[in-house]
Amino acid sequence: MSVPLGKMQQNDYARFREFLEKACGILLGENKQYLVTSRLSRILKEYGIKDLGELVSIIEKPGQSDLRDKVIEAMTTNETSWFRDNHPYKSLQDRVFPELAKAKKNPIRIWSAACSSGQEPYSISMVYQDFQIKNPGLLTANLQIIATDISPSVIKDASRGRYDGLAMARGIPPEMKERYFTRVGDEWEVDAKIKSRVQFRQLNLLQSYALLGKFDVIFCRNVLIYFSTELKRDILSRMAQALNRGGYLFLGGSESLTGISDRFEMIRHNGGVIYRLKD
Ligand SMILES: C[S@@+](CC[C@H](N)C(=O)[O-])C[C@H]1O[C@@H](n2cnc3c(N)ncnc32)[C@H](O)[C@@H]1O
Repeated sequence: MSVPLGKMQQNDYARFREFLEKACGILLGENKQYLVTSRLSRILKEYGIKDLGELVSIIEKPGQSDLRDKVIEAMTTNETSWFRDNHPYKSLQDRVFPELAKAKKNPIRIWSAACSSGQEPYSISMVYQDFQIKNPGLLTANLQIIATDISPSVIKDASRGRYDGLAMARGIPPEMKERYFTRVGDEWEVDAKIKSRVQFRQLNLLQSYALLGKFDVIFCRNVLIYFSTELKRDILSRMAQALNRGGYLFLGGSESLTGISDRFEMIRHNGGVIYRLKD
């Protein structure tokens, strides 16, 4: 008889770890069997798959992209919030937008590189709108925000731009909620102007960024923590190439470039750290 997911064979677990790292970069620890069990049991039941070994055999074959996407989605963490950690958004207001205004940059291009359900790119768009209100005429540039994520379902939700009460309780200041959202039944919808600056696309960070063009700012927050040092190096060197001269990189609160990239200057600002591409 086959071994159920609960009594996972080491060999199957090793094959699954290898699949996951190759497919999306996520590096599972040696002893995360419980995580795999809890996150995949629903999919195994839905597809009538008996154990992890059979699942890996199926998703390794070509033409299984739906199931493969579901497995990757189940294994990724989509945790996010509005204006997460505050300081990156304050730094956009106090430093990055004034600099770009002075340089008469137009259009301004920002990449939200693992945007989850959209709170990050929409927060950037709201900060931009606020900056224009507070500094009339200073920044007239067109802002383009390209928001990408590996998960097709979070991209679909994010493009819809509607959030339930739980999502709205996470980080949105009341005056921003009042200014930039409209209530639709039980949900709140991001205003059209805020939405219009954001283009959502599915993109795996392991793939090429060549088609995205160049950016003035990249937000790559709370995703590199799941990857190996080698992969972080590769992603950050390709992100450096995707930035315009003097462009900024924002990482998550627990992420740093130490020992990973020397292409950036570290700047302490507003109680956080931001990175600027060296000349
Ligand atoms: C914890 S969320 C971070 C969201 C947002 N950046 C923030 O800081 O609030 C991590 C996101 O990374 C995405 N992700 C994981 N692996 C990825 C990959 N290889 N390429 C693109 N996105 C990936 C997940 O789907 C998830 O939405």
